[in-house]
Amino acid sequence: MPYIVLEGPDGAGKTTQIALLKKALAASQHPHVFTREPGGTPIGDELRALLLEGKVDKMDAITEMFILTASRHELARQVIRPALKKGEIVISDRCFLSTYVFQGYGGGQDKEVIKTLTHIAMEETMPDLILILDLTPEEGLRRKQAQVEEGLKETRMEDKGEAYHRRNYQGYMDYARENPETTALIKASDIAENVHKAIIETLNTHFGLGLSPQS
Ligand code: TMP
Repeated sequence: MPYIVLEGPDGAGKTTQIALLKKALAASQHPHVFTREPGGTPIGDELRALLLEGKVDKMDAITEMFILTASRHELARQVIRPALKKGEIVISDRCFLSTYVFQGYGGGQDKEVIKTLTHIAMEETMPDLILILDLTPEEGLRRKQAQVEEGLKETRMEDKGEAYHRRNYQGYMDYARENPETTALIKASDIAENVHKAIIETLNTHFGLGLSPQS
């Protein structure tokens, strides 16, 4: 069964899409497991709190990458590989591509180092398909502004400025262009219902899952 990932810049509507996807899988007969990065295991969830809470500069960029890698390794060992072995579909909210994009493009860290860390964390277990929610930095900033006005708080990782978000977007676009076989760009500027339909259609086309869109 496939290992599928949903990715995208902050503010692209990933949380809503994961919730709809959960409904679609629950309505199907397919055994499956949902997980997320950072987190998804007891240690990973503790590491997630360490990563997302507090001040932007509370830790060094290398320390941050080691913590992300540690969380990823636990997830691969404890959740992803065992589930795939049992014949379950694995759907993850983010994967190594977030590190490649956010720490590599956004944070300027060495992409070869990130590839090595990814290999250490995941060994040979890589996603069969990464769905990338495609939302331009301009649209992302507009949505973010609306959320700030609603009083929603940013996490430490989101609070890094406009240029950072622009570099991240470039990272996603570069990766999608360089890896057309294992990525699918999903236009995320449309209403959530249509984005969901596009995701379901893409999954059905790639893996013949016969999923029905939910609302
Ligand atoms: P999210 O799961 O709500 O999208 O939040 C996770 C935050 O952590 C988000 O701002 C992206 C960031 N992140 C990284 O910077 N690198 C990573 O490798 C991962 C998995 C997440």
